[in-house]
Order: sequence, then structure tokens, then C-alpha cells
Amino acid sequence: MSWDIKDISRQIQEDLNNIKDSSGLENFRVKYLGRKGMISQMLSNLSDLSAEERPKAGRLANELKQKVSFLINEKKAELTQEHDTKKVEVLDFGLPGISQEIGHEHPVSRVINQVCEIFVKLGFKIVEGPEIETEFNNFTALNIPPDHPSRDGFDTFYLKQSTRPVDKKLLLRSHTSPVQIRVMKKYAPPLAVVVPGRVYRPDAVDASHSFMFHQIEGFLVDKQVRFSELKGVLVHFAKELFGKDIQMRFRPHFFPFTEPSAEVDISCIMCKNKKATDQRCSVCGGKSWLEILGAGMIHPHVFEAVGYPKGKYTGFAFGMGIERIAMLKYGINDIRLFFENDLRFLRQF
Ligand code: DAH
Repeated sequence: MSWDIKDISRQIQEDLNNIKDSSGLENFRVKYLGRKGMISQMLSNLSDLSAEERPKAGRLANELKQKVSFLINEKKAELTQEHDTKKVEVLDFGLPGISQEIGHEHPVSRVINQVCEIFVKLGFKIVEGPEIETEFNNFTALNIPPDHPSRDGFDTFYLKQSTRPVDKKLLLRSHTSPVQIRVMKKYAPPLAVVVPGRVYRPDAVDASHSFMFHQIEGFLVDKQVRFSELKGVLVHFAKELFGKDIQMRFRPHFFPFTEPSAEVDISCIMCKNKKATDQRCSVCGGKSWLEILGAGMIHPHVFEAVGYPKGKYTGFAFGMGIERIAMLKYGINDIRLFFENDLRFLRQF
């Protein structure tokens, strides 16, 4: 007989030892058990052997076939186990997880939400307006005269479009007051609205100035609205936001869009308006009052500009800077901190 069983067995063993993965195992199976594989060849060659050799050789080939099948199954089990062990290594449940950063409310958003909520509870609606405005809405309709310094290119960002007539010129709104115009043009009183949003002014950036900041505008229009109602609403607001002990004062002021107008102060939240004896309060600088907003009774020219019938309605309006309020509330001394997005700062709120 021409087969050297020992040689074949050695080769099988050697091939088996070289198998590293399932595709290696498949190659091995094809090599020995495949249709054109070694053992199939042996079996089909049996007819060439003499009648004497044939049974022995047949038995040998069949034994070999069984052995190889057994080895394949054994190897397969071994490989699967290895694979599973590797998988377990990858999924090491003992390892610390990869933590996902959770979003965090920005202090400016937080104050906007707090302020809006106070007014919403009083029945005000929240309305937003566009950041790109017409000169008409931002100035003219608000009774701001053509020569007013705030219209100057040093105080307002104008968009490049030189050919437009004055009132149609576009700009980045310098306050949220133009949304009063938009709302009143569209809706008849009674109206009670708050308007949060971004405003822009070409100020040099320093600890208390930024070219973009946030304001909340508020206004209420109906028949026979009085200044005392403005006062009641604002005192309620300040107590809700800063605490029940807060005091408020109204100082006469001038705004073109309100008459009469006032600047509104709250008692210093740091020194509590108890005039510090020898040390200057770091928040109010010893003045014991903090200016927080501007307000007044809506000027009749504003009602005229939006087409309300003359003398029919009265109303009040107010506007406040959000960053300033956030700085007072949380004792922040630099407005730039709001815009730098330093997580060490933001996580404190
Ligand atoms: N628009 C004013 C500003 O940006 C703030 C303001 C003052 C708004 C008085 C008002 C108001 O509605 O009545 O400085």
C-alpha cells in the first residue's frame, strides 16, 4: 500500500496546530474532507488497489475520515471558547464606564427662565422678535428722534445696504423694545407681553460691556392702565426674583418711548441697604441701591406709530439687562464670563 499513515497523521497534526481561526479550520476541512480533499481521493482511489489491499485501505481511509471529523469538532469548540473568552475580556464589566457629559443650563438662560416665569404667572405672554430689525421699529416708531445719538453708527450695528431709505435700513436691534411695535401692530389690546432676546451694541468689551447681551422687555396695554400698576408689577417681580426683603425705588428718568419714565433700583442685595459704616460694599459701591431696569408709561407717539386710536389706550413698559441681573444675583463681577463658556464657571450654577 502506497499510503504512509504515519506521515499523513503527522501532517494532519501539524496542519491542526497551525489553525488560528475559523477560516483556517475551514481550509483544513476542505484539504482533508472536501470533495477533492485527501481522504475523498483515497476513497475514490480504492478501486486501483488489489482485492487484498482494498479492505484494509478502505478501513484506514474511513478511520482517518472519522478522526479528522473528530479533530475538526474539537478544534471548533476550542476556537469558540477562545473567542468567547476574548469577548468577555472586551466587555469587562469591572471597568469604569465612559461617562457622558450632561448638558447644563447657562446662567443667562436660567435668569431668563426665572424672570419669564414670574411674569407668565401674572398672565403675561412670551413673545420673541427678530434680531435683525428695521430702523423704523428700533427707533422711529419708539419716538426716538432722527438726530438721537443712539442712532449713530457708533451705537448701533447697521447692515451694509447703503441704498435703503432711512426707516427701511436694517440693523441689529440695540434693544428688545422694537418687539413692542411688532406686537402692537399685529394685535389690539389688552396685551401683556414679555420679550426675552439678544441685543447688540458696538461697545468695547470690558468687565461690564459686551457687544451682544440679553434683555427682557415687558409691556402691558389696555384701557386706563396706570403707573401704580407698573409699580405693583415691578415690586412683585423684584421680591420674587431677589427675595421678600428687597426694597425698590423709582427715580425720574427720560426715555423717548415712555412718559413719564423711571429708572428702577433695588436695595443692595449684598449690604441690604444698611449703609456700610466704614467699608465700601463691593456690589453697590456704598450707594446701597442697584439700578436694575428702565420703565415708564408708553408714550402716545408709540401708540400713534402702531395705528392705535388716539387716546383710547394707556400702558406701561419696562426693559432690563439679563447679564446685569445675573451678575447681581450670583455675585459675578465680569460679564465676559458669560460668553467664554468655561465649564469651571458654568458648572457653578
Ligand atoms: N430699551 C431700553 C434700553 O435698552 C430699556 C427700556 C427702558 C425699555 C424703559 C422700556 C422702558 O420698555 O420703558 O435701555
